[in-house]
Amino acid sequence: MSDLVITRTQGPVGIIQFNRPEQLNALNATVAQAVIAAAQAFDSNPSIGCIVLTGSPKAFAAGADISEMAGMNAAEIARLDYFAEWQQFVDVKTPKIAAVNGYALGGGCEVMMMCDFAIAGENAKFGQPEIKLGVIAGIGGTQRMTRLIGRSRSMEMHLTGRMMGAQEALQAGLIARVVADDDVVTDAIKTATTIAGYSRPALRMVRETVMRAEELSLQDGLLHERRVFHALFGSEDQTEGMAAFLEKRKPAFTAR
Ligand code: HXC
Repeated sequence: MSDLVITRTQGPVGIIQFNRPEQLNALNATVAQAVIAAAQAFDSNPSIGCIVLTGSPKAFAAGADISEMAGMNAAEIARLDYFAEWQQFVDVKTPKIAAVNGYALGGGCEVMMMCDFAIAGENAKFGQPEIKLGVIAGIGGTQRMTRLIGRSRSMEMHLTGRMMGAQEALQAGLIARVVADDDVVTDAIKTATTIAGYSRPALRMVRETVMRAEELSLQDGLLHERRVFHALFGSEDQTEGMAAFLEKRKPAFTAR
């Protein structure tokens, strides 16, 4: 594991931290591989029920590493299918929370949007400034931001390259919650601990089903949801969860 990324666990939570603070956690190929490997390792560890991805006080990540990309030509960047590997991070089934302090720009904002939701500090700043570099977002910015905040606001962000503050990002729906800067990681770990305590099959299914809302027609999405709801009655956690409610006790979910 590269020292550009730090991993640790806290109870059932796997924590991944970008560790290039001097470069504002600019994402190069080594960082990408390390984050993906860490997320996959947590995903295959049954004791981990939720992942928190975070950065440093000044930056979650200020984008793809411009010094790594600057000298590439079109043929080379296409041959490498540059940053296509981030799809493997998206494919991790364990819920992922982005805990954002400081800048989440370009690829940093895009990796944040690959997470299931984001909790950010009051001074966090978001944007897709690639237009200022003569390019555009390349790992989902035009697609995920548009789905999250709508075409008008997304278009403005991509065309101007301006930054959005935390309160605006909250109102727009780009992030789920704003907390004091110092509380971001603690709050994300607390939230992740709550999530990790729930039924793992139900967590996997609700993630998939919510994501389907962006892909399917309403009728197909509703049918998918109902079928998943029915199928979860085959899980021991459904028996336990409902019995615990009726017996007025805390459920002990065990399915992995
Ligand atoms: C490489 C970066 C970087 C980046 C910051 N640094 N962002 N290096 N790639 N994306 C480095 C700086 O060069 C500098 O290094 C150090 O981090 C501190 O940054 P400063 O600019 O001195 O800090 P500050 O003045 O506070 O300005 C912060 C900032 C600015 C506004 C965030 O750094 C900035 O605009 N960064 C670039 C943001 C960006 O354009 N991101 C999109 C990248 S393209 P030295 O060595 O000088 O100290 C992208 C495409 C994704 O993400 C798609 C891929 C397929």
